[in-house]
Amino acid sequence: MDSQKSLPFVIAPSILSADFARLGEEVKNVLAAGADWIHFDVMDNHYVPNLTIGPLVCEAIRPHAIKNGKPAMIDVHLMVDPVDRIVPDFAKAGANLISFHPEASPHVNRTIHLIREQGCQAGLVLNPATPLDYLDHTLELLDLVLLMSVNPGFGGQSFIPSTLPKIAQVRARLDRYQAETGRHIRLEVDGGIKVDNIAEVAKAGADTFVAGSAIFGKENYASVIESMRAKLALSGKA
Ligand code: DX5
Ligand code: ZN
Repeated sequence: MDSQKSLPFVIAPSILSADFARLGEEVKNVLAAGADWIHFDVMDNHYVPNLTIGPLVCEAIRPHAIKNGKPAMIDVHLMVDPVDRIVPDFAKAGANLISFHPEASPHVNRTIHLIREQGCQAGLVLNPATPLDYLDHTLELLDLVLLMSVNPGFGGQSFIPSTLPKIAQVRARLDRYQAETGRHIRLEVDGGIKVDNIAEVAKAGADTFVAGSAIFGKENYASVIESMRAKLALSGKA
């Protein structure tokens, strides 16, 4: 049984590794090069030891995030504690999907509801050492589970191999949930994804792939994305 089949693979370049001086152009170029979503990393120098971009930048890139004449998904990854205050600002700035870390919210259920009330899809992010127990009482409210395959805070880190069995465990759980309810929840993986390991990550059960330095670190975005899709096609999934 492969209930994952109906969800197409998604490649979501992280603009953390883009040229911030030319961000609109970078967003346009990477979507024209075949990317599906734009992954938007928000760091607060508190939950993680780095500081990046906020709602104003999300709003500024929104008109550039167009694919085939339609708005492309802006996939906002909040590494912010506390998280609730900033959620409506991102919704207003044009985010489509907002994910947060459960450690950054005293009331995880409330934060998920807040994201949905703002008209966005909701995702929960689990760090490499965060247990899957957080999915026990949240799954039915989620559109996406994001597994970190590095410790959050920086681009360009190496993929942590113990993420692979964790992906497989979540995949099994999401497949069971889908069989029971008919509802698909995406499984996204973030950190250290390259052309060389994307097939392995797909085989473990991911359907949505964040890649920052692997894409924005290269001259030709289209050729990296094509190589990733070729590896995904060979992975035997989706
Ligand atoms: C890390 C960020 C990632 C990161 C991915 O905290 O959430 O999205 O930018 O970058 P790479 O693909 O270079 O590991
Ligand atoms: Zn991220």
